Amino acid sequence: MAKKKANGTAGSADTDILHIGIDLGTARSAIAAGNGKKKWVASYVAWPRDFVAKKLLGERILFGQEAVENRLSVELVRPLENGVIREGTARDTEAVRELIHHLIDLIRPSKGQKIHAAVGVPAEALKVNKLAIRDAVSEYADALMVVSEPFAVAYGLGALNNAMIIDIGAGTVDFCVMHGTMPTEEDQRSLLLAGDYIDRQLQGLLHEKYPQATFSEVGVRQYKEEHGYVGSTNGAVSVKVPVQGKFTEHDITKELKSACESILPAIAEAATDLISRYEPEFQEQVRRNIYLAGGGSSLKGLAASLEEALKDYGPTKVTTVNDPLYAGAEGALALAQDMPKEYWEDM
Ligand SMILES: Nc1ncnc2c1ncn2[C@@H]1O[C@H](COP(=O)(O)OP(=O)(O)OP(=O)(O)O)[C@@H](O)[C@H]1O
Ligand SMILES: [Mg+2]
Repeated sequence: MAKKKANGTAGSADTDILHIGIDLGTARSAIAAGNGKKKWVASYVAWPRDFVAKKLLGERILFGQEAVENRLSVELVRPLENGVIREGTARDTEAVRELIHHLIDLIRPSKGQKIHAAVGVPAEALKVNKLAIRDAVSEYADALMVVSEPFAVAYGLGALNNAMIIDIGAGTVDFCVMHGTMPTEEDQRSLLLAGDYIDRQLQGLLHEKYPQATFSEVGVRQYKEEHGYVGSTNGAVSVKVPVQGKFTEHDITKELKSACESILPAIAEAATDLISRYEPEFQEQVRRNIYLAGGGSSLKGLAASLEEALKDYGPTKVTTVNDPLYAGAEGALALAQDMPKEYWEDM
């Protein structure tokens, strides 16, 4: 386990340094390490509620799916909301610290190894939460670098010039234009409507159409992840939902499409607007080099629909990254391995 270390010296001649990249997300957090290990966990942290819960679960703090599954006997915290660390309670801050600790434990650093961590966060959190992230990481790392998530993705892909990354997460959609240097705030954008927004839309639409049936938040997210699509469909989607205790088939094809497509216009508009700020020749090159990342990029038909929405401005090519789950963490790891000393903060 990593432990507190007072005098980290990033970039020094230390031989036993473990570089790690962390993608801290609203829905899922992932880690990739220089020792070849990578892991992810749903961004939930939970503490047993009372002594009965402790007897059942032990003193442990639970993470991810296990935390959600035991939600009746734990205090369940999802510490990031809309892409930023919630600042309501001390529990949220503590939860982020525990989550980071857990991720680092999962990749099993060897004893005494110094940890140099690059943490990718949604662009908004970079502005709002930098100190909170520093606090959360300081106990477990010797050097830290906080970077915007889409920049980490771009770096991992090697898309350093003439490219745009659109990272579609749960809380935010983050945009980053790469033009051969470190991106600045002007090169980035963040929209507060992403996967969670689709889920809320879908739940609302289904409730309206089938008022007698109960559609849970977890349920609608699952329908979206399994069957979600934009553009044309290749068949009807129906799901079994309880009505007065009896599971009954419900057609959700149209509602699913409208909910998934609800984020498209804003994404197309933000992309167009961001690109339009550069000189014309560069705009053309960027439009041919758009990458979709984040869990939301797995929506069927998304790349094609975005190409369609942007094509009036000129030839457009939109590609979905190969491994949306780890693209951020792998990119952050690559940054951690490559960045010179002046970009690091000693812990
Ligand atoms: N196959 C899929 N189709 C559609 N959406 C999906 C699919 N798989 C995951 N998602 C959605 O992707 C989102 C999670 O993506 P990701 O892990 O990139 O988010 P995050 O990094 O936790 O969020 P943020 O970056 O906003 O903090 C969730 O809304 C999830 O429902
Ligand atoms: Mg993310």
